[in-house]
Amino acid sequence: MSQEATIRPATEADVDELVAMWAQYMRAHALNPAYRMLRADALETRRRIFQRRIEEATGAVFVLEDEDGGLDGMIVCFVEENEPYFDPPRYVRIQTPFVRREARRRGYLNRLLQKTFEWAAEWEAAEVRLYTGADNLVANAVADELGFEAIEVVRRRPLENEPMMHWED
Ligand SMILES: CC(C)(COP(=O)(O)OP(=O)(O)OC[C@H]1O[C@@H](n2cnc3c(N)ncnc32)[C@H](O)[C@@H]1OP(=O)(O)O)[C@@H](O)C(=O)NCCC(=O)NCCS
Repeated sequence: MSQEATIRPATEADVDELVAMWAQYMRAHALNPAYRMLRADALETRRRIFQRRIEEATGAVFVLEDEDGGLDGMIVCFVEENEPYFDPPRYVRIQTPFVRREARRRGYLNRLLQKTFEWAAEWEAAEVRLYTGADNLVANAVADELGFEAIEVVRRRPLENEPMMHWED
């Protein structure tokens, strides 16, 4: 892994690594009720969504590439419509910001975010939005630090026993 990774748009050739990073991301958040009930075909479905974000103009995926050509991180963004009675009419949603453990605290997330801000500006978006797990202390600390204001809290109340998918290492 290099000291200075470069950031570039993802291509179809990156999809295997994107899915692998997403699986790590999901493992790290496996206790969160929103993320723990993964369907059996979750990886395949997520693969198709990565492909769609790469192909469609309304979405983008940026990756951190190290000198060896491996990926150290990723971020996904896409245009999302707001409720029809609220302004702004649309914003750019940021999803799955991830930096491999060995590459953290080098400012890479900050650089990935700058890329998404530039991309959002091309869409003349007034704001970006990012969801953070309520139990993800690091993500919430990072989001505060990087100027993301918390505007909603999503709460859930289970109505029946839920099956849990356990990741196998
Ligand atoms: C969150 C994550 C993407 C941060 O990536 P990173 O490249 O290490 O972040 P950066 O180096 O750009 O840090 C930017 C700032 O965020 C804050 N920050 C980063 N990691 C932090 C931590 N563990 N605790 C508290 N603040 C932190 C700091 O203010 C940091 O600036 P500094 O290093 O100058 O103090 C990374 O820890 C990660 O991939 N975590 C697992 C996936 C995840 O939870 N993603 C967020 C989902 S919303």
